[in-house]
Amino acid sequence: MNAQALAALALICPSCRQQGVEARLQLRPLDGSDASHAVDNGFFDCPRGCRYPIIAGIPIILRDMADWWQQSRHHLSAMTSEPPEMVDYFAYLAHAHPERLAERALLSTYMDAHYGHPTPPASWPDSAEYWQHITTLAERTTAGGLALDLGCGVGRLSFELARWHQQVIGLDLNFQLVAAAACIQRTQQLDYERRLRGQQFTRVTQPWSAPSNVLFLVADALDPPFAAASFDTVAALNLLDNVNVPLVLLSQMDALLRSGGTLLLASPYEWRSDISEVSQWLENADQDAATTLRQILSAQLIPQLSLNYQITAELAELPWVLRQHQRFWQWFIVHCLAARKG
Ligand SMILES: C[S@@+](CC[C@H](N)C(=O)[O-])C[C@H]1O[C@@H](n2cnc3c(N)ncnc32)[C@H](O)[C@@H]1O
Ligand SMILES: [Zn+2]
Repeated sequence: MNAQALAALALICPSCRQQGVEARLQLRPLDGSDASHAVDNGFFDCPRGCRYPIIAGIPIILRDMADWWQQSRHHLSAMTSEPPEMVDYFAYLAHAHPERLAERALLSTYMDAHYGHPTPPASWPDSAEYWQHITTLAERTTAGGLALDLGCGVGRLSFELARWHQQVIGLDLNFQLVAAAACIQRTQQLDYERRLRGQQFTRVTQPWSAPSNVLFLVADALDPPFAAASFDTVAALNLLDNVNVPLVLLSQMDALLRSGGTLLLASPYEWRSDISEVSQWLENADQDAATTLRQILSAQLIPQLSLNYQITAELAELPWVLRQHQRFWQWFIVHCLAARKG
């Protein structure tokens, strides 16, 4: 993690904020790392005693760290600086677990979707074109300043935004995906397993030029560790239908964005009742989600949120393809928009 990246940004303790206290986090590098350079291991300390680790250069800033550790420690044992033989042993054990197949498959899908662009079935849209459209839309965002990519996955949009922002924060709940993004940045190459079928994977390696002005961290988009109005651009691609209360995501995005800044949203509105209750979906029998979202952004709907946005660019139907394996592809039709905060 590049410590200078944080100079312009105050990180706020999510745990104290829940108790009504806005406490700013202080960086404390370990291993004698120089706080003005890359920090691979360390902590963010809250003046009230909370601590958040930096693991393999990635800050983890979640309100309930104990719960996160309970769920994530098996991923991390291979990343901490144990003797090499032990690291290999943990990597082997982690690899052998059945849950690991689902994780490897997820990584394969998103690395392909963001970077690998395997050839789709005949006449299907290809991912490279998807990213061209997203980038053209994203270029409508305000140049300079700070951008935030919520639910960044393996980081492609964060890297694109970095071309015209001074600093980008890529944030996701999934350590594995964020670690893959940080690894591309560190090594300047793609190196991942593409799933062929069943348990068969093939290795993909390729150089990839990734900018250095992106900081990836693990945090919750619904409880983000930042002060209000910190960002010039706030983006969330394909996240709205992946959170339990989509309206909370919209209001958090609005809170983080300075006035005059740009909101970037894309979603196929593929609501799932195991993620959010039907009553939370931004659509109903009479009105589709694209219309509902437009009305919420201009405060025609849910005026108590006080949103005041003007849509500056919109793509009604952008094909987005996710490859699960060679015989299972998913094709979504995504609605995308850029909107300026009044
Ligand atoms: C459908 S994927 C989209 C990834 C990427 N934005 C893209 O468009 O390819 C949704 C992502 O959001 C992340 N996510 C889900 N809930 C989240 C939350 N509350 N806070 C941060 N990230 C979240 C998931 O881990 C996943 O990486
Ligand atoms: Zn605290």
